[in-house]
Amino acid sequence: MIMNREEKLLFYSPYSFLRSISKDKQLAVVDAIFEKQIGTEKILIQVEGYDFIFYLRKLEWDTRFFNKNTFKLLTIISDNNDLAKVSEAIRQLLITIPKDSYVFTEVPSEDILFLQGLGNNCFKLLETRLTYYNDNIKNYEYKRFKVREAVKNDIEILQYTASVMKNEYDRIHADYTFDEVLANNYLAKYVENSIKGFADIVIVPDEEGVPIEAFLTSNFLTEDWDKVGVKISKMVLSAVNTSCRGWYVKLISEMTFIMKEKGVQCIFMNTQSTNKAVIKTWETLGFKYGSATHILSLNT
Ligand SMILES: CC(C)(COP(=O)(O)OP(=O)(O)OC[C@H]1O[C@@H](n2cnc3c(N)ncnc32)[C@H](O)[C@@H]1OP(=O)(O)O)[C@@H](O)C(=O)NCCC(=O)NCCS
Repeated sequence: MIMNREEKLLFYSPYSFLRSISKDKQLAVVDAIFEKQIGTEKILIQVEGYDFIFYLRKLEWDTRFFNKNTFKLLTIISDNNDLAKVSEAIRQLLITIPKDSYVFTEVPSEDILFLQGLGNNCFKLLETRLTYYNDNIKNYEYKRFKVREAVKNDIEILQYTASVMKNEYDRIHADYTFDEVLANNYLAKYVENSIKGFADIVIVPDEEGVPIEAFLTSNFLTEDWDKVGVKISKMVLSAVNTSCRGWYVKLISEMTFIMKEKGVQCIFMNTQSTNKAVIKTWETLGFKYGSATHILSLNT
């Protein structure tokens, strides 16, 4: 169980923006992320008699896809808040990771100490990620549009859409470690897996004369509803080709209606701080700023 750094660790909860969720429940979510997921190693490093525990997860799927050992560094736990010692602990941790591995991490803006320790060890910034949310779904209203669920036959055209409408600021495209072909292939695989069941639902336009060149994926996250006491769901990935210009707002709105009908109380989603079209759309539909994180990476 996580004992220390509670105030900072709270921000590692994907629901930290929702202040109606108690501190204990937020920490239980964080605890489940750090302690319970398979493949996570707890690594103890000692610096001048102080303990620093790192949570490091090897990502097997990514390791195979990129043909490179890929790790997600989840966080650091310690009683000691001295930047020099934190930086030294990170340096020693990196020595334990096989050479030529890829390590990335997502750190809440509030965890400034860990961010600075990572910076001191040459981690580079890839993405500043914002969370937006709407916790008043029961009163959501907007114009209606025709959409349908995506089927396997849509995979190819949606992969094409995702590759044409690449988001140059997502963490994979923004990382100069990966060439563009590899980054596009990663996204194409993500789209395919989403339609094959990785996402709970994927929707596309279903209006006369509108090509199927736009999509939006979502996860209902029902497994967390009782744990946090809120029916909370997430919209995940989308792209809209220029042939469907203006469909983003329609997909977001229709997905909101789908979730409202399912009894969802709060919806959240992530984008890059650079994605002004997305932020403008969400604000138009009543979504609000929730939180921010930074994604950094390092090749060991
Ligand atoms: C982002 C994306 C989905 C938007 O598709 P779209 O529905 O065609 O969006 P639009 O071009 O109509 O833009 C949406 C709104 O943002 C506005 N907008 C666009 N660029 C903007 C900018 N740089 N600054 C401010 N507003 C902007 C548009 O004017 C429009 O507002 P309006 O309806 O009031 O005119 C599409 O460009 C895309 O697929 N991008 C690449 C992938 C991506 O970023 N996905 C989202 C990841 S979270």
